[in-house]
Amino acid sequence: MKAFVYEKYGPPQRLRMAEVDKPAPNADEVLVKVLAASVNAADWHVLRGKPLFSRATLGLLRPKHKILGVDIAGRVEAVGSGVTRFQPGDEVYANLLDHGYGGFAEYASVPVGVLSLKPASLSFEEAAAVPMAAVTALQGLRRHGEPQPTQRVLINGATGGVGSFAVQLAKSYGAEVTAVTSTRNLDLVRSLGADHVVDYTTTDFAAGGRRYDLILDTVGNRSVADLKRALTQGGKAAVTGFTSVAKLLGVSLRGGKDVAQVSAHVTTRDLELLSELIEAGKLHPQIDRHYPFADIPAAIAYLEHGHARAKVVVAMT
Ligand SMILES: NC(=O)c1ccc[n+]([C@@H]2O[C@H](COP(=O)([O-])OP(=O)(O)OC[C@H]3O[C@@H](n4cnc5c(N)ncnc54)[C@H](OP(=O)(O)O)[C@@H]3O)[C@@H](O)[C@H]2O)c1
Repeated sequence: MKAFVYEKYGPPQRLRMAEVDKPAPNADEVLVKVLAASVNAADWHVLRGKPLFSRATLGLLRPKHKILGVDIAGRVEAVGSGVTRFQPGDEVYANLLDHGYGGFAEYASVPVGVLSLKPASLSFEEAAAVPMAAVTALQGLRRHGEPQPTQRVLINGATGGVGSFAVQLAKSYGAEVTAVTSTRNLDLVRSLGADHVVDYTTTDFAAGGRRYDLILDTVGNRSVADLKRALTQGGKAAVTGFTSVAKLLGVSLRGGKDVAQVSAHVTTRDLELLSELIEAGKLHPQIDRHYPFADIPAAIAYLEHGHARAKVVVAMT
């Protein structure tokens, strides 16, 4: 089968299309014919082997995982001997972050615990946009407990992959949502359901008088002190990503119980919950750009520049 592979850490140009063995599913896995994938920050972090300390798990000198790609949607081609919930022909979506990546390929073997039937109303490309970003948004919003309808929630980075789902999910909990983004994206976050918008190019959300019960920071560019200043008494913050190692250390060392890091792990259960919200019309993936399979390096480069408007997807055909 065809796959994008890389042997050395570096920029997206390191990726090259190659002919590799088709994977064989283990007993608890299904073999998926990948029809669409989406690109995530995890892909470019792992491609570059950055931050450097992550190489302790990714591979010290060279990458352990030769094929990147965590989010996929496609059709079940074959099932392992122990699989009863899926059968060939099923349309599914899945996430491979905790299972060695491998999505930027014509076929992927997927453990059943990170796989769900695809929401019927979504195209394969739309479905591939969902798993990593929407589950991170969901688990980030729930990091300190279930969000309450009475809460004021602020989403920093509201037009990124994670943020665009977080705005919609926070609204589905009934919260009053403030979205932080740049000028060109204000209408987009309003269309996602935000009640209030903050343009970060002109306004510092942490400097105004407004306080929030919950902050989901998907950018990770603020200090713990800034986040705490913007919280109500008893308010909590959850941070999914960081703009520097110093910011990550700040949250780890000084965040305490109230400002916590999010480490998302996709599960079938969460994918099924997201499917329900999608089918109920409460959640819809926003697609910024579509790329063909051959242009995966360009798709990753585009995401890496840091200003994608929600998701970047790849059609594998
Ligand atoms: N912990 C986990 O398990 C986990 C899982 C998934 C993702 N992540 C991390 O979460 C972070 C977000 O991921 P993502 O997929 O959402 O990334 P993304 O799609 O690349 O985010 C891009 C968005 O960030 C916005 N942005 C950039 N600078 C900003 C600023 N100063 N203030 C507010 N918004 C700003 C951009 O809006 P403008 O164009 O308007 O600037 C753009 O819409 C990444 O660091 C990623 O590594 C962590």
